[in-house]
Amino acid sequence: MAQATARAHSNIALIKYWGKRDSSLNLPAVGSISVTLDALHTTTSVHFSSEWPTDRVELNQAPADEKTTQRVSRFLDIIRQNAHIDERALVLSANNFPTAAGLASSASAFAALALAASTAAGLSVSPAQLSEWARRGSGSAARSIFGGFVEMHKGRRADGRDAVAEPLAAADFWDVRIVIAITSEQAKQTGSTGGMEQSKNSSVYYPAWVDTAEEDLSAMRNALLQKDFTRVGELSEYSCLKMHALALSGQPGLLYWNGVTMDVMHAVRNLRRQGTEAYFTIDAGPQVKVLCLPEHQNTVEEALQQIPGVLRLITTRPGTGAHLLGEKA
Ligand code: PMV
Repeated sequence: MAQATARAHSNIALIKYWGKRDSSLNLPAVGSISVTLDALHTTTSVHFSSEWPTDRVELNQAPADEKTTQRVSRFLDIIRQNAHIDERALVLSANNFPTAAGLASSASAFAALALAASTAAGLSVSPAQLSEWARRGSGSAARSIFGGFVEMHKGRRADGRDAVAEPLAAADFWDVRIVIAITSEQAKQTGSTGGMEQSKNSSVYYPAWVDTAEEDLSAMRNALLQKDFTRVGELSEYSCLKMHALALSGQPGLLYWNGVTMDVMHAVRNLRRQGTEAYFTIDAGPQVKVLCLPEHQNTVEEALQQIPGVLRLITTRPGTGAHLLGEKA
């Protein structure tokens, strides 16, 4: 019998991942670069015991639905296989932010689960190994193993050993702010896996997206390490709009935005015209994440708060990587 509790933070991609080179191992077709978010985290405890006949999962103190339980169970199978155990587990997981509101809950969830489950199973592994396992749960989760600014490699190997994230710079390297505008609390209609498959199978833009990914990654890596805020912001907006153009160009096209999402994008560009440097990025959902420097946080928050339909704002700075909160063996 062994248990462990871990916490991992969500992250937002500045250079986006969209598309898989292999679905069964969840291998990305392109690399990505993200910043881990201090304010949004998942805390997960895993307890393996031979007394339990099945895996049980609780999310935010309520039993998880069948689909989620199966997804977690499949993930635990990877850990069980590596640890040579077959005990079932009780998994208790809680987010400090609304689940399924497009705030990348799967990223923090699978990063926390990878660390808690492997520790509870008696494994002590490298961050790279944890990142590889987290990727099996969700591509973006591989990045949440690390804090600060993180690069995910698409890798070349068929077994996915090199499709892992690595840190580019720690959370205290650069004090940037991310102001998140929540424009809808509803769960999205097309998840990222289905959306990516649709783009890959039906968009004429998909080959161009894959072919040009390396240039975007290298430009962002350089801009970040030079703390060139203008360039980082421009590249973030570019990668976001490029990813959404790809999603929009599938058949049928995927529309992740609502009207308020658009209003926020225009407001961000208005701020820039008035001299406040702020840049948006948006994942597969309607929330807008706005990147700015600390001296502009208040101006950005005031502008976004005034937009009708913006339900609330969450402001954060770069956060730390996945870590254990407690362990009993
Ligand atoms: O980690 P997934 O499979 O939910 O995919 C994430 C996709 C985006 O959030 C849209 C982009 C990214 O790189 O996080």
